[in-house]
Amino acid sequence: MSKFIINGGQKLSGSIKIHSSKNAILPILAASILTEGDVEIYDVPMLDDIKIMVEILKYCGCRIGETNNNLTIKPNVVNNDINIEMVNKLRASVLLLGSMLSRCKKVVLGMPGGCNIGTRPIDLHIKGLTKLGAEIKLNQGYIEARAKKLKGEKVYLDFPSVGATENIMIAAVLAEGETIIENAATEPEVVCLANFLNSMGAKIYGAGTDTIRILGVDKLHSVSFIPIPDRIEAGTYMAMAAVCGGEIEITNVVIEHIRPIIAKFKECNIKVIEGENAIKVFSTDKIKPTDIKTLPYPGFPTDMQAPMMSMLTVAKGTSMVIETIFENRFLHVGELLKMGANIKLEGRVAIVEGVKRLTSAKLEAKDLRGGAALVIAALMADGTTEIEGIEHISRGYFELEKNILSLGGDIKRIV
Ligand code: UD1
Repeated sequence: MSKFIINGGQKLSGSIKIHSSKNAILPILAASILTEGDVEIYDVPMLDDIKIMVEILKYCGCRIGETNNNLTIKPNVVNNDINIEMVNKLRASVLLLGSMLSRCKKVVLGMPGGCNIGTRPIDLHIKGLTKLGAEIKLNQGYIEARAKKLKGEKVYLDFPSVGATENIMIAAVLAEGETIIENAATEPEVVCLANFLNSMGAKIYGAGTDTIRILGVDKLHSVSFIPIPDRIEAGTYMAMAAVCGGEIEITNVVIEHIRPIIAKFKECNIKVIEGENAIKVFSTDKIKPTDIKTLPYPGFPTDMQAPMMSMLTVAKGTSMVIETIFENRFLHVGELLKMGANIKLEGRVAIVEGVKRLTSAKLEAKDLRGGAALVIAALMADGTTEIEGIEHISRGYFELEKNILSLGGDIKRIV
């Protein structure tokens, strides 16, 4: 089993360039089969999750080439029975429901997987696609869906689910007539998907607001596209910068997308200087405690809850962290306790009492963002920390060790 060995306490300073967002690229890949034209996506960090989606598309019949982190897709589909293991490894594979229904009228899809951070139902996806005319049957371990014809409709989402908004948007683009998604997710990744589809000739209006209007078109054409930078990768390096003694410049960010994170950092007495597409974050040993409640965008992102909590373990006082999006997203807490953190869990609330320093321990990453939180904790802790389960972390952070080493950190991957 591979693991990280991290020698904590090194000062981190320098500059890091953020990669394109995994969570923006996955829906784009799923949606690429809506056209028969070529799809080029630039700046793709070839993370494990992205590799899995690429393999699934190849299994369906797409021809995909990769050079220098640019993907060229020839979106051919010959196989719409994708009840295969790869699908179970990825939450975003559920987005193939919308695109395959649109392209093939029928799909058999394995159950989506992803991080173990809650039950992660897909009822909102199913409700929305059913409204558009799909018949969906959930079998033991797989989904069967068909739609003679997809037709535009009004869909109200009980919760602004990112994935459900994306799935319905994907299915609606080539549907007949007008689709309106109400209480839609407003996350930047949703807007990025809409921009991608619009660059192919789709007619999507209002992405980024809670009402998205989609006018069905007959056909989509070829496209070349650069996805948005990863706001969670940026936030993770911000947390590292805050606790590791130096100052880090983080380039290739969209300030507006990380505004909710910057605001919390400033509240914690962390100096953040904003440039046009870059920020600089300065470390301090006087981190102020704060309260965090995860919320849909533009609230504080649930994906930043764990990295932020690592930072708050050494704040000067007591912070309260409330997780409202996923019910099982505190898997990192038990590991942080092993390092001497003082955290009390009560359901969806974590009370974090700041301690002076964390100490090294043997840890296990249990999910992607929780794993990143442990890397941050290990980088600031005294001594040498071992983190197992790092396959979770590799799903979402491209060239993490290379970046940390370039900043002056001491990290080794043992395979
Ligand atoms: C996406 C992100 C994930 C992020 C999350 C919230 C990707 C690949 N993943 O996940 O990193 O943490 O947004 O910002 O983009 N829900 C239902 N029924 C559904 C769908 C969702 O009850 O049909 C619930 C979920 O269980 C969860 C909440 O809604 O409690 C939010 O989920 P959602 O916004 O759909 O997240 P994902 O798209 O899965």
